Amino acid sequence: MGNAPRAAEGFLNNMSSELKTVFVGLAGLGNVGAGVYKNLLKNGDLLTDRTGVRLQVKRIAVRSPEKHVGLQIPEGMLTTDWRDLVRDPEIPIIVELIGGVTEAYDLVKTAILAGKTVVTGNKALLAGHGYELVALAEREDVPLYFEAAVAGGIPIIKAVREALIGNHIQAIYGIINGTTNYILTRMSEAGLGYGEALGEAQALGYAEADPTLDVNGWDAGHKAIILAWLSYGHWVKPEQVHVEGITQISQTDLTFARGMGYAMKLVAVIRLDATNHIEVRVQPCLIPQSNIMANVHGVMNAVAVYGDIVGETLFYGSGAGQNATSSSVISDLADAADNLTNEAGTNNGFVPQGHYGACLPVDETLSRYYLRLRVDDRPGVVASISTIIAEHGIGILSLVQPEVDAGADADLMLMLHQATFGRMKQAVAAIAGLECVLAVPVLLRVETLKAR
Ligand code: HSE
Repeated sequence: MGNAPRAAEGFLNNMSSELKTVFVGLAGLGNVGAGVYKNLLKNGDLLTDRTGVRLQVKRIAVRSPEKHVGLQIPEGMLTTDWRDLVRDPEIPIIVELIGGVTEAYDLVKTAILAGKTVVTGNKALLAGHGYELVALAEREDVPLYFEAAVAGGIPIIKAVREALIGNHIQAIYGIINGTTNYILTRMSEAGLGYGEALGEAQALGYAEADPTLDVNGWDAGHKAIILAWLSYGHWVKPEQVHVEGITQISQTDLTFARGMGYAMKLVAVIRLDATNHIEVRVQPCLIPQSNIMANVHGVMNAVAVYGDIVGETLFYGSGAGQNATSSSVISDLADAADNLTNEAGTNNGFVPQGHYGACLPVDETLSRYYLRLRVDDRPGVVASISTIIAEHGIGILSLVQPEVDAGADADLMLMLHQATFGRMKQAVAAIAGLECVLAVPVLLRVETLKAR
């Protein structure tokens, strides 16, 4: 960016020795914040060797100082007011890890307006206010970094923004929520119930403070919005994103899927259609066991990025947790410090906004489907269901009904050819109205994870 930001001038003028110290203000000392603090101490010398800069946390803003005695934080470093960080002229970098949106928005905006470089891991904040905050940072000529906002420890932001800069991004498929991947893995492999698996994910520090955002798919939805912006220069509004969570996934569907050679994953789909419309959606999907993504288990995340020059790339790593996520924050800190201390400035953290066109309405999105129906086991049931499917112009790939005792209800499971979501929903609504259908149908996407 050429010139060091305003807030850096004071501290840069004071740097006379060879080794430059860059002070950091850390807002939030939860799971990830504590990881940043500990790992900056642990690998501080390594970072200094590699960057020529000593990154040092100067002040930390927390809600309840008494909760953090175990971290042995030097006296005077803690404050309960994040404004103390922003006001400190010696602190040029603010790390926002307080989570939530309202206060985090105030913090980030105030810091940018004060000329501070901001590092955040807050995907909900960026998904809702990214357009405004990026524009503000650009106007104020201060960098805004957010590697930790998507896929924990995987450097996917750098990969899409820098390493793949020469590509039109055709599609991204991501398993980008560690908690739900952990839950689905434990339900599928250990036969755990949903609640028990969620409890484990919370105990391991993977889930958000409010795990609702994980299990209802919105944590992944927020990350998908960020990836769509990086790929297409277009901020998709949350209300334009179709998001389904995993709370309705049952052992029955996991077992059926496995029996047919599929794994169940919460998948974010971000891609362009032939008319340059952007598709952004998140939902539990059946993906072929033969695809490498099907073997992404537990808290691991994976992001497959298809570029028109590079072809398929795949990024894999821990998608949540203290150490993995703090690694991404620290990478941003190194970039930020480099940008502040290097006259030439290599990276201002901006990507363009507003390149591509409109969003593809979810009803026009295409995929194959899995449909499970709880039905009466009597003559004519399959005929009436398959008639409705045919009337909607949808083809049946396969149909399975495991044998049940006479008089018992049966599960009828259909794999369907590609159709628009809108047409599929109409067919399912008609099927649900049949007298022989005894429960709400289960409709899931089947994704083959191809470039188009
Ligand atoms: N709760 C998130 C997850 C943390 O499970 O992926 C990383 O964003």
